[in-house]
Amino acid sequence: MRIVTTRAELAAARAEATPLALVPTMGFLHEGHLSLVRRAKADHGTVAVSVFVNPTQFGPSEDLSTYPRDLARDLDLLADAGVDLVWTPRVEDIYPGGFSTYVDVEGVTDVLEGAERPGHFRGVATVVNILFNAVRPVAAYFGQKDAQQCVVLRKMVRDLAMDVDVVICPTVREADGLAMSSRNAYLDETHRAAATVLIRALRAAESAWAAGETDADALRSRMQTVLAAEPLAQVGYVSIADTDDLREIDAIDPARGALASLAVRVGKPRLIDNLLLTPR
Ligand code: PAF
Repeated sequence: MRIVTTRAELAAARAEATPLALVPTMGFLHEGHLSLVRRAKADHGTVAVSVFVNPTQFGPSEDLSTYPRDLARDLDLLADAGVDLVWTPRVEDIYPGGFSTYVDVEGVTDVLEGAERPGHFRGVATVVNILFNAVRPVAAYFGQKDAQQCVVLRKMVRDLAMDVDVVICPTVREADGLAMSSRNAYLDETHRAAATVLIRALRAAESAWAAGETDADALRSRMQTVLAAEPLAQVGYVSIADTDDLREIDAIDPARGALASLAVRVGKPRLIDNLLLTPR
């Protein structure tokens, strides 16, 4: 496994590795990231992983300075997973002096995470664009857990005619259903137990949908009821939205399905999760 830092080192290493699949990460890797690596490896044979905590996607009061990091452990996990190339850029390798060009994906970034975290998706779209231009992958792998990020990046790739296949992989969960996330590291024992409220709320909506409920407000209420029973949960939003444009809907078209999603602060971390209410 080659580990590179500068863009020149990356360019030299990538010239020897084609076609290349990319798994962009912010490090502090868990099984969710490794599932992306395995899928990328199976699809393309040669895999690059970027490890970069991207400052432009954090708001001024967010957790950039405390975001969990453990590069040595990440590199061990990536070597074990058979990764070919790891790019660990410094901030100046991504954003050289005088940097002033950003990518704004309009519309789908106004709602949900975009509404609660202004500028977040501008930072994500910009860094992913830079990673794609530098690594030049044929395909890039992202987790469904960040559902809105997936919608935003797919739209960016389509709108800007970028020649990369965006592959979305299923959310990987702990045994009790909590979606894996680097930010779960912030949870103490009490809050870790409370954090299962996210998947419990989503599953309440999912079972009502499976039982024939199509009224979106009825599904939002199901989720709110579960969340209200957990005193440690501070709800950011609860959403039943269109899977393409992420607008809230009134009634789910059974042929289209919907995205059920939520953001909840449980102690220190603000956690997000979602389930696709699949068409029937
Ligand atoms: O999903 C993440 O970890 C980040 O948003 C990404 C895609 C690596 C961009 O920094």
